[in-house]
Amino acid sequence: MEQLVIEKSKNLRGEIDSQGSKNSALPILAATVIVRGKSVIHKCPHLTDVEAAIKILRYLGCKVEWQDDALVVDSETVNRCDIPEDLMHEMRSSIVFLGPLLGRCGKAELSAPGGCEIGLRPIDLHIKSVKRFGVEINEGFGKISCRANGKLKSCETVLSFPSVGATENAMLSACLAEGTSVIFNSAREPEIEDLADFLNKCGAKISGAGTGKIVVEGVKRLSGCEHTVIPDRIMISTYLACCAVTGGEIKINNVCCDHISPTFNVFVQSGCELICRQNSVTVKSNGELKPIGTVRTMPYPGFPTDFQAPSMTMACVANGTSVIVENIFESRFKHACELIRMGANIKVEGRVSVIEGVKELTGANVTSTDLRGGSALVVAGLCAQGQTVVRNLSHIDRGCEKFSETLNSLGARIRREQTPDEKGQKT
Ligand code: UD1
Repeated sequence: MEQLVIEKSKNLRGEIDSQGSKNSALPILAATVIVRGKSVIHKCPHLTDVEAAIKILRYLGCKVEWQDDALVVDSETVNRCDIPEDLMHEMRSSIVFLGPLLGRCGKAELSAPGGCEIGLRPIDLHIKSVKRFGVEINEGFGKISCRANGKLKSCETVLSFPSVGATENAMLSACLAEGTSVIFNSAREPEIEDLADFLNKCGAKISGAGTGKIVVEGVKRLSGCEHTVIPDRIMISTYLACCAVTGGEIKINNVCCDHISPTFNVFVQSGCELICRQNSVTVKSNGELKPIGTVRTMPYPGFPTDFQAPSMTMACVANGTSVIVENIFESRFKHACELIRMGANIKVEGRVSVIEGVKELTGANVTSTDLRGGSALVVAGLCAQGQTVVRNLSHIDRGCEKFSETLNSLGARIRREQTPDEKGQKT
């Protein structure tokens, strides 16, 4: 196991490029299963979640290879429609293979993904919407067995909540279904639009992605295309948070400012200056933050739950009181415990947390609780007095590409090393 050792870092400065979006890349990789021939996915981030998706694709019979930052997937040779339990469990979003497998093979054998660190994460909405396409589903003994009688049938489906994953599965099921399908109350996240853009380039007929009503006209066949994954809006905001707490000025290129605009208010409230240009964002901070006000996580274009944890770190070192309400996942405040170990003053009551800013956090040994919680601890380590050690990097590696290298290029002082126990064992 490895850990990050972070020294207090002052005045981050410089220019970086945003990584491609994890949450776009994963459904696009799953989508290659319904595409015949080669798909070239540019700006696909090098992450353990992407590696998990590659393992699933290879298991299904696809040929997959990296060509620099592009992942080339040839899905002509798909020859099975099941995903074994160990591969399903490696990555929560493996459930997004359900729609593509049904579209390609008319059947799918998966195991239930189960809950995770941030909540129960049921898949009832995925199952309900896929059933509407004429799929028979049997669940039991931790398995999900799905079978369509011939081709999927188009349908109208209404999501009771605009779930990102359920919208993706419905859209993916609809692409090769007979007739025109409509998804009401669909999620409006930019990653949904990116998936639709990829599929449309492959020959799909999807309109309305990015709105609450998506219309998909079924087509007979999809063929491979080249596509560039959108910038990772959560990582961009996370780097902005790093600069906010340390002070300094950083410019991030390969940015879509519209996608990150739901997080702007936090930076503006805290007294940072943001400059958005066509393809970049610059943040300037004097390192002395004001409270972030009241932040409520909501489906896009509301404040993203994935940026809740890093924004909590900003609130921890602000001069006053902030409130965060987590409306999307039921147990997404686990990072608060670790921040408290670093001297933060946080009270959590159900889905609400109240944060009294302290003058300075203090370095401590902390454990990353989930992907975004882990990145929040890195943000905290950058502004904490002394040294912070962040353990359990497997979460961070799921979503942050070259996190410590990128921060070091901006003047941060972070090193990645083996945890002492393992060092001991090796010598
Ligand atoms: C995606 C993102 C994740 C982000 C989340 C919300 C990916 C790979 N992951 O996750 O980073 O935090 O959107 O923006 O894109 N729900 C149900 N039943 C279902 C499905 C969801 O009750 O069948 C609930 C969830 O438990 C959660 C809420 O709906 O409370 C939102 O989940 P959803 O939008 O589906 O998130 P994911 O697609 O899993």
